[in-house]
Order: sequence, then structure tokens, then C-alpha cells
Amino acid sequence: MRVAVYRKEHFNAAHRLYNPEWSDEKNDLVFGKCNNPGFHGHNYEIVVKLTGEPDKDTGYVFDMKKLSELIRENVTRKFDHKNLNLDIEEFKNLNPTAENIAVVIYDLLRDKIDNGLDLKIYLYETERNFVEYPA
Ligand code: NI
Repeated sequence: MRVAVYRKEHFNAAHRLYNPEWSDEKNDLVFGKCNNPGFHGHNYEIVVKLTGEPDKDTGYVFDMKKLSELIRENVTRKFDHKNLNLDIEEFKNLNPTAENIAVVIYDLLRDKIDNGLDLKIYLYETERNFVEYPA
């Protein structure tokens, strides 16, 4: 009997979508306002999904308080009120799209969580735009 549990957390961060190998014109064409050189911010919502067997003693798939702490210690404390392009090492050479942010978050959490649990990340960049990794 496998059950999924979800924990939602939040962070604010700024970014700019930009490919340094392209001309300014091509960056404008592809990324539009998201290529604004002065950066822009988002209220990101992150949802972490863990799937596994409930523990026979606790009935928990994962202690939600511990999951919240894990996300806050490893993800939101690192990203909150940061400029993703300038402040976060992982995005020095990686465009901070929602897709890439979700992959980075997955990699930050994967080795902190028992391998018997499946991990999935949902990242909302706006209320209407969100991504899932692994797909
Ligand atoms: Ni943006």
C-alpha cells in the first residue's frame, strides 16, 4: 500500500532568463520580459511529494514536520530573497527557468530522503504556470 504525502513551502526570488551565447535581440525574442536586465521577482510555491509505504509503527510515510524542516533548511533558506542568477552557485551557468529550478531542488533534497521513497517536485512560478520533476 503506497501513499503520497505533500508539503508546500514558499520563497521569493528574482531571476533573469538569458542565454549568454545568444545576441541581445535573440534573447529578447525568446525570453521577452523575462530577459529584463534589471531582473524581476516571483513568489515561488514549492510542493514536495513523497510516495512510499506508511511506517508500520508510526503510520507515517514521512514525518511532515521533518519534511518541512528539510525543505526549509536545504531549499527555501538558500533561495529566499535571493537573486538566483547572481547569488546561487547552481545557476552561474544554468538558466534559472522553473524547469531548471525544480531539477536543482530535487538534487538538493534527493540524498536527504530515504531511497525507498519516491521524490517529486512541483514548482509554481505563478498561480497558472508550474512544472513537475521528474516528469
Ligand atoms: Ni520570471
